[in-house]
Amino acid sequence: MVKQRKYVVKKQFQGVPKRDDFEIVETELPPIKNGEILIKTEWISVDPYQRAYNSRYPVPYDQFGYQVSLVLESKDPRYPEGSRVVCHQGWCDHSVVNTSEGGATLGLSAVYKLPDLKGLSNSLGIGAIGMPGATAYFGFLELCQPKAGETVVVTGAAGAVGSIVGQIAKIKGCTVIGFAGSDDKVEWLEKELGFDKAFNYKTVDVLKDLKEAAPKGVDCYFDNVGGEISSQIISQMNLFGRVAVCGSISAYNDMLNPPKASIIQPSIVMKQLKIEGFIVSRWLSRWPEAFADLTKWAKSGQLKTREHVTEGFDKIYDAFVGMLAGENTGKAVVKV
Ligand SMILES: NC(=O)c1ccc[n+]([C@@H]2O[C@H](COP(=O)([O-])OP(=O)(O)OC[C@H]3O[C@@H](n4cnc5c(N)ncnc54)[C@H](OP(=O)(O)O)[C@@H]3O)[C@@H](O)[C@H]2O)c1
Repeated sequence: MVKQRKYVVKKQFQGVPKRDDFEIVETELPPIKNGEILIKTEWISVDPYQRAYNSRYPVPYDQFGYQVSLVLESKDPRYPEGSRVVCHQGWCDHSVVNTSEGGATLGLSAVYKLPDLKGLSNSLGIGAIGMPGATAYFGFLELCQPKAGETVVVTGAAGAVGSIVGQIAKIKGCTVIGFAGSDDKVEWLEKELGFDKAFNYKTVDVLKDLKEAAPKGVDCYFDNVGGEISSQIISQMNLFGRVAVCGSISAYNDMLNPPKASIIQPSIVMKQLKIEGFIVSRWLSRWPEAFADLTKWAKSGQLKTREHVTEGFDKIYDAFVGMLAGENTGKAVVKV
């Protein structure tokens, strides 16, 4: 019998999630049946939607989330023993997955083979070459339709999605301006990732500095954070500018009482902007396209894939609240 340890959310989050909102529960897993696999988790993802979607589910619920896992036993020939999978089984160390359903919540994928990462770290399967990478790739390319020479702004720029968006924008020949939450992150964006300009949104005058950095205005805005900074950026957009609304993390810890932001409708009308929200599962069947390009760029050195690694199953909560507080540069992952 294989034992499973898993995080169960037993209280609805109020503000920043608390350690005792979770309970680690141990159970025995049943023997696998036809169409099932037994997997051992190797990498677990902590992501902002795990905070944002909390109020959708009655407690208690098993904490959902992506993981990269090793197949220990298989009764599905598509996933042989010793191979690796990506699935949405949540924060658990072992699990039995029904491969036709496997953790398929939130309209996300069930289970799929870890893409061929050409020798890159398997952890990228939940990061730059996983859901966050697909988010950056499709959200930016499909909705912003960037053209070489255009000016792109990205918020949450040093995070999992934002750091990939900015680098794709550079690959496409754009001028890229990023906003992130510390001077170290700003330095990394400018010196390592090749952003043309980056700012610490906590210390600068956003409007003044953005006007100086983008004297010809902003053509594309990839919005990870929402709130007042997004209103300020949108006020600087050019005629027919495009905004991809990916997330609003500035409000996730207080969704019932979200911050107020300046009116954006005059800019939308006068600049005839196109503003579109999206969920990455919209392009689920096309994720392999993104993974192929992202792997190619990562192998060639055009795309840098930094990770913020926390070690240990017992530390997932710390990694989660650390990510929400901005401790991560690049993708926050937990090595189990
Ligand atoms: N639409 C979709 O399908 C989809 C898919 C994936 C992710 N997302 C969204 O994309 C965004 C980024 O996700 P990610 O996975 O890449 O996370 P991430 O950026 O790697 O990590 C979260 C980051 O948010 C920043 N942050 C925290 N509080 C903030 C605040 N009040 N204002 C501004 N920034 C704040 C922190 O960086 P700083 O130090 O810079 O503050 C933190 O590092 C989130 O909004 C997420 O919900 C959407």
